[in-house]
Amino acid sequence: MTDRRAPRVHPNVLFGWGALLALALEAGVRLALPAGSHVQGQRLGEAHGFVALGLLALVLLAQPAWTRPYRRPLGLLAFAFALLHTAYSFQFDLDGRLDSLAFLAVGTRNGVLVGALSLALLVPLALTSSRPAQRALGRHWRTLHRLTPPAFVLAGVHTAWVGVHAGLTPLTVGGVLVTLATLVTLVGRAVGARRARVHSPRRTS
Ligand code: HEM
Repeated sequence: MTDRRAPRVHPNVLFGWGALLALALEAGVRLALPAGSHVQGQRLGEAHGFVALGLLALVLLAQPAWTRPYRRPLGLLAFAFALLHTAYSFQFDLDGRLDSLAFLAVGTRNGVLVGALSLALLVPLALTSSRPAQRALGRHWRTLHRLTPPAFVLAGVHTAWVGVHAGLTPLTVGGVLVTLATLVTLVGRAVGARRARVHSPRRTS
């Protein structure tokens, strides 16, 4: 038996929704905060960071067969939002200068570096997300794409470490994120394993 459910919405439609969300965030923050203020850029950076984190979680949750076609657009959108987040954070939190890192407290600097590491893991995933790349890499493609959970966990650690989070302590946010990451991974794996059992050919002996 195979899962015949086709995706109800064409996966590429998600790119359109992603673009609309980016525009809505841009417009919302620009309308809500004083024009051209530094804080506008910072809030936009934070919003893009949370959207990237949420999209990465959705990639991990997309385990059932009918959701798999959505993984690629979700992953590419997560990468695009992570790039926007990095650009805004670099411009408005680090004043557009790499040497600003030297003036951060050691802990904060390490937290930012964990974010950079997460982004670095996302780069090869985004570059090899196309079908030709998948074919070219063969079985190595799966191995490479096992980087998705570590990239998500690193992004979560980074968020807990350096984010502002509306007055919550990094420890509280960290605890919630680690719990969520564990749940996402466990539920995803359990659903994947159950599906694999249901759809594997019956043994005849
Ligand atoms: C080179 C890569 C990165 C740099 C330089 C960077 C930089 C920063 C900085 C400076 C902050 C603090 C912002 C603030 O508190 O105003 C921050 C927070 C955050 N970052 Fe990143 N980041 C990077 C990668 C990532 C990635 C890959 C993700 C997600 C996939 C991410 C998600 C977040 C989130 C959700 C916050 C918390 C916002 C808040 O609560 O204030 N970051 N990042």
